[in-house]
Amino acid sequence: MKILVIHGPNLNLLGRREPDVYGRVTLEEINRELKELALQAGAEVEFFQSNHEGAIIDRLHQACGKVDAAVLNPGALGHYSYALRDAVAAVDYPVVEVHLSNIYSREEFRRYTVTAPVVKGQISGFGPLSYRLGFLAALELARGKER
Ligand code: DQA
Repeated sequence: MKILVIHGPNLNLLGRREPDVYGRVTLEEINRELKELALQAGAEVEFFQSNHEGAIIDRLHQACGKVDAAVLNPGALGHYSYALRDAVAAVDYPVVEVHLSNIYSREEFRRYTVTAPVVKGQISGFGPLSYRLGFLAALELARGKER
């Protein structure tokens, strides 16, 4: 059972980036927590972060036939990238969308994601816990595929 975790633009700066909005936990720490959850579940996990739309789309494509589910924080791309939306719709595994902040309580442009209709589900607003919840959902979806 393999789960792919993708972090979009600017998430490499977590911990230092607008800490009042995104907190002080770093991406490395989030990945470590997810790795621990994967170990407990006997699953494999792969992490990918990029600030480039095309690189994220390529990574989603490459994972076809190789992963059982994915967790995706699209960052700002989620708000406007139809190319990313099409990639999520195209892949052969379920994708869980996560956001650290509550995108529905922020600026108008964040209250909508073009990816939401094509992902399996979305988790928003729990800080690093969003990732853990999203990862648990991905594990369940991956298990469902195996059954
Ligand atoms: C984010 C929310 C987006 O609006 C923002 O552009 C991000 C991070 C989040 O995790 O809360 O980069 O996806």
